[in-house]
Amino acid sequence: MGERDIHVPVLLERCLELLAPALDRTGALHLDATLGLGGHAEAVLLAHPGVRLLGLDRDTQALRLAGQRLAPYADRTRLVHAVYDELEDVLEGEEGVSGIDGALFDLGVSSMQLDEAGRGFAYAQDAPLDMRMDQTRGITAAEVVNTYSHGDLARVLRVYGEEKFASRIAQAILRERAKGELSSSARLAELVRESIPAPARRTGGHPAKRTFQALRIEVNGELAVLERALPAALDALKPGGRMVVLSYHSLEDRLVKQAIAGRTRSTVPVELPFVPAGSDPELKVLTRGAELPDAAEVAANPRAASVRLRAVERKPDADTGHDPKQDAGHDHKQDRKQRTRQDRKQDGK
Ligand SMILES: C[S@@+](CC[C@H](N)C(=O)[O-])C[C@H]1O[C@@H](n2cnc3c(N)ncnc32)[C@H](O)[C@@H]1O
Repeated sequence: MGERDIHVPVLLERCLELLAPALDRTGALHLDATLGLGGHAEAVLLAHPGVRLLGLDRDTQALRLAGQRLAPYADRTRLVHAVYDELEDVLEGEEGVSGIDGALFDLGVSSMQLDEAGRGFAYAQDAPLDMRMDQTRGITAAEVVNTYSHGDLARVLRVYGEEKFASRIAQAILRERAKGELSSSARLAELVRESIPAPARRTGGHPAKRTFQALRIEVNGELAVLERALPAALDALKPGGRMVVLSYHSLEDRLVKQAIAGRTRSTVPVELPFVPAGSDPELKVLTRGAELPDAAEVAANPRAASVRLRAVERKPDADTGHDPKQDAGHDHKQDRKQRTRQDRKQDGK
């Protein structure tokens, strides 16, 4: 990632276009669940002078940098240090907020996190194996590679990295750590390369890419928090509210697809001759499957190469689930909050 990528938010024009109808109303609230360097957020604030922005990030450094960038809009911006599965608590803490009009999830790590020497996300730079997006809590990648059993390591690499040679790589890690702690990202990248058969090294990009992705997902509990956050964000959408999600690998995109699918299908049995009131699907899909970037987007911004965009709208006349404070009928929200707290405790996040 080069300097120039820092200023190029992925699929920016398309995101703005999809969110616009929901944000063109006075006092609209837009949630940027992954503030990063504030690129998308700044464009939203610029395009919609009446919009208030609630920005979340689990990385304190990202929040600080985004805060500087968004300083001209400080009077209508609130930035919160939070993991996005804490969304319901964050919204409850906001005075006078009954739901959100727009939501954007731009998943994964930012170019700043990848570039920053010392954070250990990048296989191309030598750094201590940290990989925590939130450096104030949680376990590091060094702890994962030095303490997990062969079985657990291989599972992480296979499931989160879709790595065919997971077992061999895990074996090599165990051999290496028997000699002394494995703490360097460059050494790990080299070990992975050595563990993979020569013909496989020549295809599919850098051989360590999948292992680094897998460790990052494990360290940050990325899929578990995403699975909890998406329903919470969908519940918080007001009628006519819109959500856009940018995913960067198939595991993320699958969760997004599933979260949407459950709410866009009618639950009415086909044999029923009429549609009972309130049984229409609550969401409308705004994209045909997942949208991919075009060649010009990828040329301008290499980070966009693997992006998949999905967007939905809560139907303007939908009468469910948009008001977390007043909607007493939605017990599942309360249940989910309870589960989220328990899961987070178990995950140590
Ligand atoms: C791809 S960047 C966002 C870039 C941003 N859209 C921009 O234009 O600058 C993703 C950001 O989301 C944050 N992030 C990732 N997972 C998160 C989570 N579960 N909760 C909160 N923030 C998260 C990361 O720390 C990172 O700063």
